[in-house]
Amino acid sequence: MSAKKRPILITGGSGFIGNTLVRQCLAEENSAIVNLDKLTYAANPDSLCDVEDHPDYRFVEGDIVDARLVADLLEQFRPSAIIHLAAETHVDRSIADPPTFAVTNVLGTCTLLDAATRYWQQLEGPQRQEFRFLLVSTDEVFGSAEPDQPFDEQSRLEPRSPYAASKSAGEHLAFSFSHTYGLPLLISNPSNNYGPRQHPEKLIPKMILAAAAQQPLPVYGDGKHQRDWIHVDDCCRAIMQILKHGLPGNRYVVGADMCLENLHVVRAICNLVDERFGDNGQRYKLIEHVVDRPGHDRRYAVCAKKLRRETDWQPTISLEQGLRETVAWYLDHPEWSEKLIGKAPQR
Ligand SMILES: NC(=O)c1ccc[n+]([C@@H]2O[C@H](COP(=O)([O-])OP(=O)(O)OC[C@H]3O[C@@H](n4cnc5c(N)ncnc54)[C@H](O)[C@@H]3O)[C@@H](O)[C@H]2O)c1
Repeated sequence: MSAKKRPILITGGSGFIGNTLVRQCLAEENSAIVNLDKLTYAANPDSLCDVEDHPDYRFVEGDIVDARLVADLLEQFRPSAIIHLAAETHVDRSIADPPTFAVTNVLGTCTLLDAATRYWQQLEGPQRQEFRFLLVSTDEVFGSAEPDQPFDEQSRLEPRSPYAASKSAGEHLAFSFSHTYGLPLLISNPSNNYGPRQHPEKLIPKMILAAAAQQPLPVYGDGKHQRDWIHVDDCCRAIMQILKHGLPGNRYVVGADMCLENLHVVRAICNLVDERFGDNGQRYKLIEHVVDRPGHDRRYAVCAKKLRRETDWQPTISLEQGLRETVAWYLDHPEWSEKLIGKAPQR
């Protein structure tokens, strides 16, 4: 790693959003990156094999809960910023096993905030001025949105799943460090991401792989739950805009105004998979309505006006194009998903 560049420390860089952000930073931002990741069942190191020998990239396998490790890393690499993505992220797993989510998303976030604050406090001059801690939270912290009332930066935190509650707790801790110690904090709340290299337990890849294999497509409840979709490339560019231009102490919601019912998304995937196999397999007939997730939020929707106003960010990938490319990616890279299937701990 070049001694002249102060790297960005990205936690959870081997996960879905993380690997996209790492590769984007190296390719588009000319940044040096240190990726701290525990490599849980959710990570796929193959996602970063194309950059593992990049001179500006370092991977450190480790746990954000490990205070000694985190302090040593900050001392060794002296980053200009921390982008904190590492988390347990699957809502269904949080319902089956809440404590695991509290350990990483609450205790881990607190450990990282504490180490970051101590590190930042001993920086001087421009290095201290420039340092930022960017917490990547989620739109799920706001609870379920009413029709025509998307969440924005003023929305109250009303988390309703153990996952969302653990992410909110991380946010509360982060704001407390900003208020108490002056840590230059930024918070982002992205909506549902999709794109290549997302774990096949999540809705879009799960449906693509099942549709390709002509297997049942389980949809929770009536399938009319709505999610606001953003392509992961657009989300990562938003995160970098927030890092560069966001005002410390501020929250930025991130979304692409693409709120759709789950059933609509699954049907679109079926059509794309049918088209790809050229067999008019009418895969939508494989949709099976299954018992709803307990406490399932009906609607997530966000309005990213503040982000668009304060930075020159805007989404560039339509859902139609992004979904088509995502379907193609999963069908062209079966080995990537196969590596993860069966690795997840049983619930
Ligand atoms: N994917 C989405 O739709 C979405 C939307 C909004 C916000 N987010 C947030 O973005 C972040 C990344 O989400 P994702 O979808 O890429 O998640 P992911 O599950 O794909 O990846 C999480 C990564 O964190 C790592 N990790 C987990 N526990 C760790 C620990 N204790 N120490 C170090 N590393 C650890 C895992 O190994 C994995 O590589 C999360 O904080 C999530 O809450 C995700």
